[in-house]
Amino acid sequence: MPNVAHLQVGDQSLELPVIIGSEDEPAIDIATLRAKTGYITLDDGFRNTGACQSRICFIDGDKGILRYRGIPIEELAERSSFLETAYLIIFGDLPELAEFRHFCDHVRENMMLHEEMRHHFEAFPPSAPPMAILSAMINALSCFHPELLQIEDEETFHEVAAHLIGKVSTLAAFAYKFSVGQPAMYPRPDVDYCSNFLHMMFSRPYAEYHADPEIARALDLLLLLHAEHEQNCSTSTVRMVGSSGASLSASVAAGVCALWGPAHGGANVAVIEQLEQIVREKVSVDTFLERVKRHETRLMGFGHAVYRNFDPRAKVIKTAADRVLKILNRQDALLDIAKELEEKALADDYFASRKLYPNVDFYSGVILRALGVPHSMFTVMFAIGRMPGWIAHWCEMHFDPSMRISRPRQVYVGAPLRHYIYSFAERTPCEPASAAASGTTAG
Ligand code: CMC
Repeated sequence: MPNVAHLQVGDQSLELPVIIGSEDEPAIDIATLRAKTGYITLDDGFRNTGACQSRICFIDGDKGILRYRGIPIEELAERSSFLETAYLIIFGDLPELAEFRHFCDHVRENMMLHEEMRHHFEAFPPSAPPMAILSAMINALSCFHPELLQIEDEETFHEVAAHLIGKVSTLAAFAYKFSVGQPAMYPRPDVDYCSNFLHMMFSRPYAEYHADPEIARALDLLLLLHAEHEQNCSTSTVRMVGSSGASLSASVAAGVCALWGPAHGGANVAVIEQLEQIVREKVSVDTFLERVKRHETRLMGFGHAVYRNFDPRAKVIKTAADRVLKILNRQDALLDIAKELEEKALADDYFASRKLYPNVDFYSGVILRALGVPHSMFTVMFAIGRMPGWIAHWCEMHFDPSMRISRPRQVYVGAPLRHYIYSFAERTPCEPASAAASGTTAG
């Protein structure tokens, strides 16, 4: 592979360095392009722009490959756990036993929230979307735990990372409890991360919820599969916000907001709502797919900005969905419809020619539904899972001595220079009173 690229701009000829990634992905470094030629590059949606060099995650969208710190997602899904994988993603390597124990203890010890934070939950209306609460409360964390703002070295970062992973699950469960008018349940020190979350979600005073280990394991797998996905919309947001020097908690709170949209993390809700709509309206799968092909709607849970092949996470989740329903001895008509949609869509030229395959969200909602997690919490579950990835990216950037504030440029296509020709302000130096306030009415 060449180590320089040649670019001809008008009569100017330029040599630009080529950077080769560890999986042989080549990139042209255009950092000096504007200074040398006056040109910038234009790449709507940054689909062809590398925003950084990163060691955390590798995706080959054409081949359907996903690796965290070099390890294939399939191996982690089969043999690791969410917290061990979180450690790997954040700190770069799988932990030794003592390191892992220390990390897990630290996560557990930090699940408790400052008691004063409970009052903030009470101030939200019961109808408040849990994603809004989660983002607001992650931001509020630093008011009650100022140590979150003091990440001076990698050692304090280790503490804070465990702190955030512990607290986010409690914040999420509290948001749910307040939304259903039930008292918040405090975390338990004696159970694993996912059993603890299920306890905080579903226990009531005098009615302890005992999570089936298989169910806790299914939730653990779901979180693991969502833990990291390189420069997706929410992670890029975390990096963008963090590049100004903003704190880790402020940056991940912004990540939660970015995740909320239906084209990103919100798709897991949209998938289930779409499946329910199919059942409610008694539409056949064939008729529904015709609507999709006429561009009247999108098949939610299909397609991906990077994968032009199976999303490897979708394959694992599909098997897990089957297993969870079997353990719970439950039938779910939505799973049957999802399978039929998948089978027919994959055989259809519309989807094949556009390389649209099921993504991670296609089956995750079926599992969450079976676990009793309400729709409003689906994207919150994604946020809990994605926390290690956000933390790792913030850290990678924060401790990089060459970090600079992110500042894309634009091509301005608005009005050319024009002059100020008419002004109310010249006659009245303040804003004109509104018609309602001045008592005048139209007509
Ligand atoms: N159903 C039907 N048609 C689709 C779909 C879909 N889900 N996705 C893309 N297309 C069509 C689109 O209409 C367009 O067709 P045409 O060329 O005739 O205009 C073509 O495929 C290319 O679409 P695009 O919008 O350029 O594709 P994109 O790569 O920008 O979109 C996407 C990626 C994920 C936003 C999109 O596939 C989508 O909206 N999918 C449904 C939402 C979803 O499942 N999102 C979760 C993504 S995975 C979780 C995560 O990482 O956040």
